[in-house]
Amino acid sequence: MTDPTSEPNDAPAEAEARDRAFYGRRKGKALRLGQATAIGELLPRLAVDPAAVPTDLRDLFPVPVDDVWMESGFGGGEHLIETAKANARVGFIGAEPFVNGMAKALVALHEAELDARVRLHHADSVPLLDALAPASLGRFYLLYPDPWPKKRHWKRRFVQKDNLDRIARVLRPGGEFRFASDWAPYVDWALAEVLAHPAFVWTAEVADDWRRPWAGWPGTRYEEKAIREGRTPAYLIFRRR
Ligand SMILES: C[S@@+](CC[C@H](N)C(=O)[O-])C[C@H]1O[C@@H](n2cnc3c(N)ncnc32)[C@H](O)[C@@H]1O
Repeated sequence: MTDPTSEPNDAPAEAEARDRAFYGRRKGKALRLGQATAIGELLPRLAVDPAAVPTDLRDLFPVPVDDVWMESGFGGGEHLIETAKANARVGFIGAEPFVNGMAKALVALHEAELDARVRLHHADSVPLLDALAPASLGRFYLLYPDPWPKKRHWKRRFVQKDNLDRIARVLRPGGEFRFASDWAPYVDWALAEVLAHPAFVWTAEVADDWRRPWAGWPGTRYEEKAIREGRTPAYLIFRRR
């Protein structure tokens, strides 16, 4: 994972060569034993196979759920897990390529007894988004995405027209794209990109709406760090038309 003042490691050459490369870090420090076990044993049971995604995403879960929400880049899973706990009739799909984040989230969600309502993709969320049926999600969360502050890296930012097309395709009308970031230039960028997209409407009702986290916001690890370091988070909710 990254912080706004340092760039994630560049991807290996073969990834650069793909049409759309993934640029984040995939590995960090060595995993603890429980985390390695979670990656080896629990992840295969909870993994979503993009080649075999059911048309009705509720069929991914062995328990009844009314809706399915997705989070891209969940880090250590703090938001995903707290949001799953607070929404007992929702199934969750989380994507996170960074192995240390995935391991931490697996251990925590298992302890929280959420195995039946969370499915995971240990890779770039884009191919998974492309595999989902149209209008199959009620919410898509992108929280504290890598900010890519240097101009030559702006094209790596997740919020871009092509990814907005993907999010728009998988959200049902009335569904929500929820975004948070502490990096003001990325917030401005994201707002401009989304407002230029015909599928989304910003739900803000008052001028300083962006400063207020939505109801039930549990925070994330990156948010804690941002606040500690004096940056101001912004929270944006866009509704799919
Ligand atoms: C700055 S961290 C924020 C983590 C977490 N959302 C939080 O707020 O604590 C950004 C995360 O997005 C993940 N990420 C970056 N690009 C991604 C992609 N294309 N698909 C899925 N995850 C991605 C990174 O691995 C990293 O863990």
